Amino acid sequence: MVGIFSLVTGWPGPSGFGSATTAEQVTEGIDASNLTVIITGGASGIGAETARVAALRGAHVIIAARNMEAANETKEQIVSSNSAARVDAMKLDLNSLKSVRSFADNFVATGLPLNILINNAGVMFCPYQLSENGVEMQFATNHLGHFYLTNLLLDKIKRTAKESGVEGRIVNLSSIAHLHTYPEGIQFDGINDRSRYNDKKAYGQSKLANILHANELSRRLQEERANVTVNSVHPGLIMTNLMRHSVTQMKVLKIFTYMFWKNVQQGAATSCYAALHPSLKGITGKYFLDCNEKEPSNLAKNEKLAKQLWAFSEELVKSAQPL
Ligand SMILES: NC(=O)c1ccc[n+]([C@@H]2O[C@H](COP(=O)([O-])OP(=O)(O)OC[C@H]3O[C@@H](n4cnc5c(N)ncnc54)[C@H](OP(=O)(O)O)[C@@H]3O)[C@@H](O)[C@H]2O)c1
Repeated sequence: MVGIFSLVTGWPGPSGFGSATTAEQVTEGIDASNLTVIITGGASGIGAETARVAALRGAHVIIAARNMEAANETKEQIVSSNSAARVDAMKLDLNSLKSVRSFADNFVATGLPLNILINNAGVMFCPYQLSENGVEMQFATNHLGHFYLTNLLLDKIKRTAKESGVEGRIVNLSSIAHLHTYPEGIQFDGINDRSRYNDKKAYGQSKLANILHANELSRRLQEERANVTVNSVHPGLIMTNLMRHSVTQMKVLKIFTYMFWKNVQQGAATSCYAALHPSLKGITGKYFLDCNEKEPSNLAKNEKLAKQLWAFSEELVKSAQPL
């Protein structure tokens, strides 16, 4: 109830921030000039605003995007409003493990450090289709591509944290939609089963996978005593291109639920909070909403499920490698 009250009124939670807080407000006074940040899907929506604000705070931002024209346009917009901004665009298509591998290789070849990885890109409610590697599209894009990307960049993030003494951070963009998944959480026995496909539940499944992935990675990094945290966030409800497969439904929904919606400046706040705010130093394996820690679903907190998803994802990546 308190959650709904603060969502509607913007009343701040224990962190001092709330649903009305913008990304600029949550990062006020933060100096990120020693940080390099990769933002997947940073060419539009929440990712583009996260990129703009991270650059405003001095970070070197890499926009990882499949549409290079859009990525370069976003880069130009950021630089035109802030000539000191350090922004680069690099090609990444999360539907293709080959593209994920090339992106990681190209990034490592730049010799840049990597302090923060924001796994932001996503698709929602698409009709049944398979990725380049033959995996159901929402699971492949939202989870599997990010799982592989994170693993490929992990050494770089750990090494940067060790050499610089600055905590590395990984942020997974999940969603409140993780609550609406298949009954078993993840359909390990039929991830590509067309007859059981439900576009909404498949999205919820992929967003549950984002939290489970963050939690298991967080556990592994703590075991290694690596100076890298991993958290997941729900950004809020924001009208973006994400709704492209459900524009009419979402517009109708917004009429009845307008008080729950945010603008994109507010939508990027929780990502920026998790990625940059000093009060989260050492905080890992948590889920944030409206810039405050919240409990995710029981399935999302299930360690056995998280381990099972990790092993399953490793197998999928391995079996898809020949492409
Ligand atoms: N908006 C909301 O209400 C809401 C709510 C909860 C969670 N989220 C989460 O927030 C994140 C950002 O969403 P958004 O609302 O900002 O949507 P958006 O504007 O559509 O941004 C998503 C970005 O991901 C990119 N992308 C999609 N498929 C990709 C692929 N295969 N490879 C590389 N990039 C790809 C898109 O690029 P293209 O333009 O080329 O497709 C786009 O730039 C998503 O993870 C979403 O699930 C959003």
